[in-house]
Amino acid sequence: MAKDKVQIFDTTLRDGEQVPGCKLDTAQKLVLAERLEELGVDILEAGFPISSPGDFNSVSEISKLIKNATVCGLTRAVEKDIKVAAEALRYAKKPRIHTGIGTSESHIKFKFKTSQEEVIRRAVAAVTYAKSFVEDVEFFAEDAGRTDNEYLARVCEAVIKAGATVLNIPDTTGYCLPEEYGAKIKYLKENVTGIDKAILSCHCHNDLGLATANSVSGAINGARQIECTINGIGERAGNTSLEEVVMILKQHPDLNLDTNINTRLLFDTSKMVSQKMGMPVQPNKAIVGTNAFAHSSGIHQDGVIKNRGTYEIIDPEDVGVSESSIVLTARSGRAALAYRAKNVGYELTKLQLDTVYDNFLKFADVKKEIVDSDIHEIVETSNIKLESLA
Ligand code: KIV
Ligand code: ZN
Repeated sequence: MAKDKVQIFDTTLRDGEQVPGCKLDTAQKLVLAERLEELGVDILEAGFPISSPGDFNSVSEISKLIKNATVCGLTRAVEKDIKVAAEALRYAKKPRIHTGIGTSESHIKFKFKTSQEEVIRRAVAAVTYAKSFVEDVEFFAEDAGRTDNEYLARVCEAVIKAGATVLNIPDTTGYCLPEEYGAKIKYLKENVTGIDKAILSCHCHNDLGLATANSVSGAINGARQIECTINGIGERAGNTSLEEVVMILKQHPDLNLDTNINTRLLFDTSKMVSQKMGMPVQPNKAIVGTNAFAHSSGIHQDGVIKNRGTYEIIDPEDVGVSESSIVLTARSGRAALAYRAKNVGYELTKLQLDTVYDNFLKFADVKKEIVDSDIHEIVETSNIKLESLA
């Protein structure tokens, strides 16, 4: 059975770039935009054009550059924002305006100090106005995660009638549990008249570390677009990580969901984003962290050397990592030492290995990690005859 496509909406250059210290200039954004297109993202959110002349320029230049992906610009539900975004997207082959408004009680009561009906009126007016510039209009219901489902369904129905092509259901504060977020998407699928005319989109934040789980739950329950960033960067604790959702869908064929991402570019793209934004990737980050395919404890190393699948569920080459690594520390066993020694030219017999291993432990207890040059020193200072080495 053919798999259902989940569109990947990349917001590294918008939500990701909002992170303090991650600001990019237009030239840097263009390099990343080109890479994101090569990676296979379906929609590229290039910026928030009204926010600054620099962001307007970036969206405009990215619109000229990008050939296949949809280029999207963010706006509030405000006419001036929408007009400026339309202008910035003028050269895009496939332009999308992403407009919206807060729908939760706290947004309506405290931010806008208005009523639910007035928010619906502004939402419809924004979508209608955006439609006068572009065909493809995405509506976001900010803080949908904490919005009452019945009211959210009324908002969705109204903006679909006004022509919205995509409905973004953000868990803006990262509050939802996966079951709850999935149930919200299911509720909208089942209760919004005209929902077949629009795509439901997940935009989840990571305040409780649930952004990826919530997005996958949304997709399982009928969402067909996921908004995410490379390395999961974004406001506060970040957004859903692109590499994580893509690999979850790939590694779980039972979900019957697929993306257009060339996964072999994931590791390199992660490095590019990290370098350009000056934002290091934590070593234990899933998929793209430097330790994601590194094995350091003796038990795991022995298992992986015998059969990679014992401790690895992803082939590192699938995400652009040439091979898994066997890291030598004081927790490593003989199998790992023999493996690494062989890689640098020493085929040790069992007896030789016992002697070299004792020497190795002395080195490893004072050094965090044993590297290739240390292996030479360890072997050569062990009480074994070098000429007896195979
Ligand atoms: O988190 C959020 O709600 C957003 C919207 C502007 C889409 O980033
Ligand atoms: Zn966001």
